Order: sequence, then structure tokens, then C-alpha cells
Amino acid sequence: MPHIEFYRHNISESDINSAIKVLRGVFLSTGKIVDDFEKKLARYLGCQYAVGTTSCTGAMHLALMAFGVGSGDEVITTPLTFVATSNAIFHTGAKPVFVDIEPATGNMDADLIEKAITKRTKAILPVHLYGQMVDMKKIRKIADKYKLKVIEDAAHCVEGNRDGVRPGQLGDAACFSFYATKNITCCEGGAIALNDEQTAKTLKKMRLQGLEQSAYERYEKKFSSPDMTIDGWKYNMNNLQASLLVGQLDRIEKFWQRRQEICRRYEKAFKNIPALNFPKTLPGVKNARWSFTIWVNPSQKNEIQEKLKKKGIPTTNQWSLPVHLMTFYRKKYSYKPGDFPNAEAISKRTITLPLYPKLKNQEIDFIIKNVLEILL
Ligand SMILES: Cc1ncc(COP(=O)(O)O)c(C=O)c1O
Repeated sequence: MPHIEFYRHNISESDINSAIKVLRGVFLSTGKIVDDFEKKLARYLGCQYAVGTTSCTGAMHLALMAFGVGSGDEVITTPLTFVATSNAIFHTGAKPVFVDIEPATGNMDADLIEKAITKRTKAILPVHLYGQMVDMKKIRKIADKYKLKVIEDAAHCVEGNRDGVRPGQLGDAACFSFYATKNITCCEGGAIALNDEQTAKTLKKMRLQGLEQSAYERYEKKFSSPDMTIDGWKYNMNNLQASLLVGQLDRIEKFWQRRQEICRRYEKAFKNIPALNFPKTLPGVKNARWSFTIWVNPSQKNEIQEKLKKKGIPTTNQWSLPVHLMTFYRKKYSYKPGDFPNAEAISKRTITLPLYPKLKNQEIDFIIKNVLEILL
């Protein structure tokens, strides 16, 4: 019986050597390598600026705060996401206001946004779920009409594109994750991409306690005691994290090609199976292919996962509880079952299968064979 991992990262020997070079050097924290990575990421994304952070959660929190979102405000988002999205909103003091999702893709339904807008709404925070972008052209139009900011949760979507638009190009800021299981990773890490110079400068201060100079700038220019001029947090990416990411950015499209092949193999095998469905990639979309999820009959979900586990096939649930039904959010805002029926229906049906470039064809075929054997 093969032993299949749920995920394997792509950190190479050369990435490890870059990290060793940092560890053998003088400057470990935010310095030149972070700067190099930020420039390279911005170039890759077709954005003007990128700001490295400790996580995507921190990136979203900072971006919301930089745009003035705070206590008493509302931010519109999706309930079918990882809790990080709404936690970032909650920690600004604002309320996460959910709208339901489109059943075909699992993405936030842009047509429901206008109905959710109130006098308190300050921003829209869409999630490019599993790597497929939401319709940013539509969302930008709504945001402009109501003078709202758009912060994209692009944790799954560094490589994505929809109708010629990439993350960070129409939003006021896009936030990325380099967590352990993401398409490129430095164990834990994140970034904000944007096109406004002033906001980029502000974010660089905000990620470092609101101080005027970073430790590296003080080191370069010899010591001066920096002033704190704005409020901030401790969300700065360090040189060790950046050193692991710089080389992966060169290989990101190669990784994507392989994940695309794997997803096509899954999709071809599962296409005409009545007991199984999966999110559709829409025309005009380059799906970043972070995660491959199947939707099964809720009454069979646990049994299928147990049976796959016994065959050595690990699966997860992204996600089996929509955020509005998490205990904290239910208690805090009185959300209840039935509030967002599409998101709730998908959550009950979701099984996430292994997807990463190192997955071998025979492993993919073994996964497919076992899923079909259980279902047919
Ligand atoms: C949609 C989404 N947003 C945000 C995050 C948080 O990313 P991080 O762990 O880098 O804070 C995740 C993590 O998996 C995620 O899936």
C-alpha cells in the first residue's frame, strides 16, 4: 500500500543554501533580502509594490488598518474561507458581514454584495477560493460606486488571473500567504501587493510597530533612535523567510504547471460521476490550483474519508464549517444555520484531496481509483 502525504513542500537544496547564508551572516531580521523578495514578487504579480509580512492574517489586518477600517465599521466577506479572513476583520474592531457563495465555484457571489452594503460598510474582502479569482472587475465597480476599499484575500492565488486581471491589480491591496502548505512557502509568511506608494510606505512602518526606521535602516545608517509616528504591529517578514522564497519565485510557474496537470487528471476522472462534483474553473480564469476539493453526498462524507485513510490516502476538509457557524462568530454576532445556505451545503460535502507538484502519477491514479471504487 503506498504511503501518500497530504502535502510536500518544494523547498530545494538551493533554497536551503540561501537560508544557511542568512544564518551565517550578520543580519537575520528584515533587511536587504526581504527588499529583494518584495521587488521580485511585485514584478511577478504586475504590481508596483509588495510588503513582506509574517503571515497573510497579519497582512490583511495591516491592510485593513492602513485603509482606516476600525471600530463600528463593517467589512463584507465570504463565510466559505479559513477563519483567518474574518479574524483579520474582527481584530480591527470592525464586523465581518458575510454574503453567500456561488454554488459552481464556491467563491463569494458578487451579485449579493450590494444588498449587504450599509452606512457602516468600509471595505469588501473577497477570497480567491482554492486559487480561482472572484470577478474583480465587478467588485471594483461596486466598490467605486459606494466608495469602498477592496482588500483581496489571495492566500491561495499568487499565480491566478481572471480576464487579464491578477491579484493586486484592481484591489486596493492583495494579501498572500506563504504558510507551510501554500504554493510557495517559507514555513510561515505573507505579503501585501499594491499600487499606491504612500500606502506601501505606511504599511512598511505599520509592520514594524509604526516606527520611522527599521532595524536594518538603523544598522546601515548607524544607530539613531527611531520615532513611532503611527500605530503598528509586529508583522515584519525576516531575511530567513525571504531567503527561502526568492528561489521558489523563479520556479513558481513550473510548480503551477504540475498542479494544473494533476487537477486536469482529477477532473477528467471525476467529470461524469453523478455521486461527485467539484468546483468549476470558469472560462477566462487561470486557476492558481492551490487545493483540489470534491463535493460528495454529506451522508457519505465521513465514511469516504475513513475508507480513504485506511487505504493510505490522507484528506482534509477545506472547510467543514463555514465561518459564520464557528462557535465564536455564532455567539458574537448571532449567526445561525440557514443564514448562508450555499456555503453551508458545500461545507457539508467538502473533501480535499492531495495536490502538490511532487505527487506522482501513480499516486494520483491510486487516489482516483479508490475514490471511484467507494462511490460507484
Ligand atoms: C483563505 C485563507 N486566508 C488566509 C489564510 C491565512 O494565512 P496565514 O496562515 O499566512 O496567516 C489562509 C490560510 O490557510 C487561508 O486559507
